[in-house]
Amino acid sequence: MDQLYATRTSRMKASEIRELLKLLGQPGIISFAGGIPDPALFPAEAFANAFQNALGPDQQAQALQYSVSEGYAPLREWLVGYMRGVGVECDIDNILITSGSQQALDYLGKLFLSPGDTALVGWPTYLGALNAFDAYEPRFDQLSVNGNRGAAEYRHAAGGSPIKFAYLSADFANPTGETVDLRGREALLDLADELDCAVIEDGAYQALRYDGDPIPPILALEQARKGSIENCRAIYCGSFSKTLSPGLRVGWVVAAKPVISQLVLLKQAADLHSSTINQMAVYQVARDCFDTHVPMLRRTYAARRDAMLEALSQHMPDGVDWARPEGGMFVWVTLPRDMNGADLLAQALETAKLAFVPGQAFYPDDTGANTIRLSFSNSDEDMIREGIRRLGVVLRA
Ligand SMILES: Cc1ncc(COP(=O)(O)O)c(C=O)c1O
Repeated sequence: MDQLYATRTSRMKASEIRELLKLLGQPGIISFAGGIPDPALFPAEAFANAFQNALGPDQQAQALQYSVSEGYAPLREWLVGYMRGVGVECDIDNILITSGSQQALDYLGKLFLSPGDTALVGWPTYLGALNAFDAYEPRFDQLSVNGNRGAAEYRHAAGGSPIKFAYLSADFANPTGETVDLRGREALLDLADELDCAVIEDGAYQALRYDGDPIPPILALEQARKGSIENCRAIYCGSFSKTLSPGLRVGWVVAAKPVISQLVLLKQAADLHSSTINQMAVYQVARDCFDTHVPMLRRTYAARRDAMLEALSQHMPDGVDWARPEGGMFVWVTLPRDMNGADLLAQALETAKLAFVPGQAFYPDDTGANTIRLSFSNSDEDMIREGIRRLGVVLRA
């Protein structure tokens, strides 16, 4: 059958992260691999009540029925208020609910990319975004947010291929944990104007800031320049996966109305709409609990991040570097140049029952072999200290 598959499938490959998640169940393993929330922190009781309400006599007919592609209106209204809180003025018609923000990335790839078009992405960048865009057969070029590449250089590198968008996580990126500062965000808007391309901002971790002052989303900065969201080229993708629950698959996109209209058509063709009952439950839990639940997550994850950073200082040999994230779930570690993260993982699993993600998969050009990603979100402080101690032993060996 292989010869029947479309050419785009030749670029599809199994995700190392997904393969690794299979290891999480083994006894004794300490896993810093998956970038997933701690299930002990899910607002499970609030969801139990929300689902009970949705299935009660008043709401069940709606909850179990087909619904509109744009998404559950009360949830979109709640999101209008949430986005206002982070500096974006929009109305309900600027918002589309998606089945996780991963679906938004797929739709945006489908909307913008013809085969051979150029997508600018961080080097490294979120593997799920690379996989989503890859299906539309683009060329990837390295987005440099520090402004040391000008528009002419990007155009030259593209060699006539249209540059369609720049994709980035501006806050606590996956995998590096890095945040783009205000100057970097403004410079990116200048660049996008010069290149006449879209900016896709992935805000998956934005609510999980542990210290430092929040920086407005790129869409908010562009709105401040251009007056209305309708004049903006920035597109914001949000998610409830890291704050409330990833299993319910509820995310959202905020953009100018013509972009949302196109995305609605794509959604109608793909899955008609996201799960009605899940959207209703997420709405109720967001409305009732978001403002207390997320500060609790911040306190808990901040303590885990600090435990990991302290343990790294204590146990890492010379030549190993890492960055301090201001939020999110990841610490990005750079090993000495001649070391290989995948080999280190094989050794760590075998000799230390320790898992993490080798960094190379996050690079579109397969460089970065001497990097690894450590997630601190799903282990308590004692496990983190023990896991980093084991990593130190494996590295010294
Ligand atoms: C940067 C980033 N974007 C998007 C996603 C997808 O999240 P979801 O589809 O659950 O909203 C993830 C998941 O790990 C992520 O790390």
